[in-house]
Amino acid sequence: MLPRVILHNQASLDGRLDWLQADLGLFYGIVSLFEEDATLTGCDTIFAAYGEQECVEDIEDKEREANDKLPLLVVTDSKGRLSNWQRLRREEYWRDVVALCSNSTPPAFLDHLSDIHVDAIVTGNGQVDLRRALWELNSRYGVEVVRVDSGGALNGALLRAGLVDEVSLLISPTVVGGLSPRSLFRAPDLETVDGLLHLELQRMEQLDGGVVWLHYYAVK
Ligand SMILES: NC(=O)c1ccc[n+]([C@@H]2O[C@H](COP(=O)([O-])OP(=O)(O)OC[C@H]3O[C@@H](n4cnc5c(N)ncnc54)[C@H](OP(=O)(O)O)[C@@H]3O)[C@@H](O)[C@H]2O)c1
Repeated sequence: MLPRVILHNQASLDGRLDWLQADLGLFYGIVSLFEEDATLTGCDTIFAAYGEQECVEDIEDKEREANDKLPLLVVTDSKGRLSNWQRLRREEYWRDVVALCSNSTPPAFLDHLSDIHVDAIVTGNGQVDLRRALWELNSRYGVEVVRVDSGGALNGALLRAGLVDEVSLLISPTVVGGLSPRSLFRAPDLETVDGLLHLELQRMEQLDGGVVWLHYYAVK
């Protein structure tokens, strides 16, 4: 079975993710409604959140009490770029971390994950086969709801793979403009109308600071 995939983002009115001053209280207040079993993100979002200089593996992996109520943190990293797995594992938000890798992931990186007891799902040629990886998350860990915490690249890949079930969007009252591809969904242009993701509006609310929350279900 595939888990339900919920994309939750904050963007400008023109759908850009840069120059935002997100209200984290609003953003994560809504997250709690989704009752996610796993948070799916990519290594560039981790770099953006933690800074590349801090992405250095700690020497000691301190034990902490497992809390089964917390979601898993699942990170795509087919090139073996991330090196702060133990730090992520110790964060209070997740019960553990899982890496999504592919057949092009350097074997030394997979060995390292194994040494530090980080589970890896290895699937796909080149980049991670996201459909298969989601299926494995359900079958190995019982994950039924995945919240995606990512930017345009991973959102776009999930969109084109037909894996998006819900879109939750906080629209900030700002317009950014620009030519660089910093949009909510970065993916190859469609060739036919068949690739459109049709949505059904579930909820629309005005929140603090002029932020509008739109929550859609995908019509499949
Ligand atoms: N405003 C918001 O709500 C919000 C939320 C989260 C993040 N962000 C921002 O978004 C930016 C990063 O977003 P991002 O999406 O570029 O980075 P990301 O979330 O790190 O996603 C990139 C990851 O997706 C994988 N990927 C990309 N295309 C794929 C495909 N076709 N198949 C399989 N895997 C694929 C990449 O794989 P490889 O490992 O193979 O490269 C990489 O690991 C940051 O600036 C972050 O701050 C904004």
